[in-house]
Amino acid sequence: MIDHIKEHIARVEQFSSSDINEIEAFRIAYLGKKGVLNDFFAAFKSVPNEDKKEFGQVVNQLKNAAQDKVNALKEAIESKAGTKNAYGDLTRPAEPLALGARHPISIVKNQIIDIFSRIGFNVSEGPEIEDDWHNFTALNLPEYHPARDMQDTFFIQTDPDILLRTHTSSVQVRYMESHKPPIRTISPGRVYRNEAISARSHCFFHQVEGLYIDKGVSFADLKQTLQYFTTEMFGKSRIRLRPSYFPFTEPSAEVDVYWGLETETDYKMTKGTGWLEIMGCGMVDPNVLQNCGIDPKEYSGFAFGMGIDRIALLLHQIPDIRMLSENDVRFLSQFKSAL
Ligand code: PHE
Repeated sequence: MIDHIKEHIARVEQFSSSDINEIEAFRIAYLGKKGVLNDFFAAFKSVPNEDKKEFGQVVNQLKNAAQDKVNALKEAIESKAGTKNAYGDLTRPAEPLALGARHPISIVKNQIIDIFSRIGFNVSEGPEIEDDWHNFTALNLPEYHPARDMQDTFFIQTDPDILLRTHTSSVQVRYMESHKPPIRTISPGRVYRNEAISARSHCFFHQVEGLYIDKGVSFADLKQTLQYFTTEMFGKSRIRLRPSYFPFTEPSAEVDVYWGLETETDYKMTKGTGWLEIMGCGMVDPNVLQNCGIDPKEYSGFAFGMGIDRIALLLHQIPDIRMLSENDVRFLSQFKSAL
C-alpha cells in the first residue's frame, strides 16, 4: 500500500498543466471529497499498528505534494495572465460608498439642541404614551377644562387616563417632579393629535419644549432667551410677542419672528406680512409649579414650545408636511449636505 502511495506522489510531482480546468480536475481527483487522499485516510483504520506511523507520514506527504502542485500551477497561470487581467486595474478609483443623510427633522432638532445647550440647557425626554396627569391635569387642565378641546387627543383603547401625548409639555411636568430648581431643560419629541392629515398638518409631529425655573426668573429673561434663539437659528433678531393663552402659562404669548419681505418666497411664507409665527411661550403658572412640587413663592420660570416640523418646512422650503414621514429616499437623500 505504501508503495502505491509513493507512486501517486511521483505522479503528482510529474503532473503539469496550464489549463485551469485540468488543474481543477486534478485537485478534485486528489484533494476532493471523493478523492484519492480521502480513500487513503479511510484506509488508515485497517493498517496494522506497526505500519501506522510510516503510512501516516507518506499519506501526508502525498497530501502536501498535491496541495503544493495545485497552488504552484494556479500561481503560474495567474502570473502569466498578470494581475491586471485577473483583478482589473488596481489603480482605478473605487466605487463610491452610498452615504445616508440625516432626516430633516433630526437636522433641525439637533440645531435647536445645539443652540440651547450653549446657554446651559440640557436635554430631557419622556414617554409618548402618557397619562392624563402629565399631559393635562398637572398642567392646569383639570377634567372638563374647555382648553382640553384645543388638543384633539388620541386615547389608548377606551381608557381615558392613557393617551398619546398631545405636546411635550408633559416632559416639563415629569422633569419638575424629579428635579429641583435651578432647571434648564429642553425636551424634544414626537407628539400626536387627532387631526385631519393635509399638506400643512399631520396627526403626529415633533415639538421642542423649553423650561427654565430658578429664583427671580422674569419675562425679560424669556424674551432675551427667545431673541438669542431666533438670531442663532434663523439669523433674525427681530421678534414680537403677541398676548395669547395657554392654561399652563400666565401670562402667555405667541412668538413671531420678522422674516423680511425681500423675496417672493418671503411674501409667500409670511403671507405678505413679513412676520412668521414660530412658537408659544409664557411664565409657568404658579399652579403648575405647585402641582409639580416646586414652591411658587420661592421660584418662578418660563416655558416655550415650538414645532420642529414647521421649522423644517420653513428652513428647507418643503411644500408638504407629509413628505417628512413618507420615507422617500429621493426626498431624504437631498439632505446629505445638511448638518
Ligand atoms: N404646549 C404648547 C402647545 O403644544 C406650547 C407651549 C409650550 C406653550 C410651553 C407655552 C409654553 O401648543
